[in-house]
Amino acid sequence: MAAADDIGIDLGTSNVLIYARNKGIALNEPAVVALERDSRAIRAIGTDAHRMIGRTPGNIIAMRPLANGAMGDFELASTMLHYFVAETIGKRMFSRPRAVLSLPSGVNEMEKRSMITVMFEAGVRRTQLLDRPIAAAIGAGVHVNDAYGSMIVDIGAGMTDIAVLSLGKVVVSDMPMIGGDRFDDAIAKYLRRKHNLLIGPRTAEDLKNNITSAMPRAEQLYMEVTGRNLISGLPKLMRINSDEMFEAIDEPLTQLIEAIHAVLEHTPAELAADVFDNGIVLSGGGAQLSGLEDAISAALKVRCHVADNPQECVARGCGMALEKASEFGRYLNNGKNRI
Ligand SMILES: Nc1ncnc2c1ncn2[C@@H]1O[C@H](COP(=O)(O)OP(=O)(O)O)[C@@H](O)[C@H]1O
Ligand SMILES: [Mg+2]
Repeated sequence: MAAADDIGIDLGTSNVLIYARNKGIALNEPAVVALERDSRAIRAIGTDAHRMIGRTPGNIIAMRPLANGAMGDFELASTMLHYFVAETIGKRMFSRPRAVLSLPSGVNEMEKRSMITVMFEAGVRRTQLLDRPIAAAIGAGVHVNDAYGSMIVDIGAGMTDIAVLSLGKVVVSDMPMIGGDRFDDAIAKYLRRKHNLLIGPRTAEDLKNNITSAMPRAEQLYMEVTGRNLISGLPKLMRINSDEMFEAIDEPLTQLIEAIHAVLEHTPAELAADVFDNGIVLSGGGAQLSGLEDAISAALKVRCHVADNPQECVARGCGMALEKASEFGRYLNNGKNRI
């Protein structure tokens, strides 16, 4: 029988979200671990560790163990997962919840099995895995059980999962290493080239989330940022405008659209026709980039819309798979076989 405290977990490359049955999103923290360089002793995990990025003294490093999609640093990723799960479910004497976990695409079978062991050690009785695009689609409200082609594009920090689904199966997919991080990098590079201004990754991300748009804006936005002038070597305050930022992200944006285009090209004609009817659904934190759905629609001539609370789709989809076992239970697996 389903326990009241079953959980759905999105172990993303930059954020970990946990959905708790009957409660909604119970945890949403950066997938960051801060550790001592030499001893590798862990100093902080999650929000506290994220604050240290770019600000750590020489002997401490703040890193994202899953930064490159697959298990960049498996041991650290395990420790982090254990910490978040234990924090969410607390110490339980009698009941052990069940969990559905969505791992970054590209994780191998051995890693999947050890993640399930980690979950057990953190207090979870039984963990089942759910493929990321299916979790995202369920969480976005896509009717995954229909014999109808639908396309989900889940844009994370390190990578994007692009998939065409029909009857709950991934028919065509790709997972390019293009996500929010690539947009941040493009912004930092642009300011270095154009203004000789060196900015940190968090400033680049702020510029992206606040004034950058994937379509030209009707009204110009501005943001003041402080960086280091590469010529004088001194800190410098600059006012950046949104037109520049639109220009700055041209390359990763084009590549992302190209990747979606390529998946559509490889989609069987009938299903592709369904996608043209239905439109493309965007999820993941990266889907919040202003104007992104319009840029994709304009380039590919396919309707495109962002799911509600896009960043929460994967965690919610995992939770819903547990709650609605009769509808979605068949997509769960135990880490042995991929769907
Ligand atoms: N308002 C926003 N505009 C553009 N990008 C955003 C916005 N909010 C968050 N993001 C980006 O979303 C990405 C994180 O998405 P998320 O789904 O949490 O990542 P992951 O699944 O890889 O852990 C980051 O690159 C972040 O900068
Ligand atoms: Mg995500």
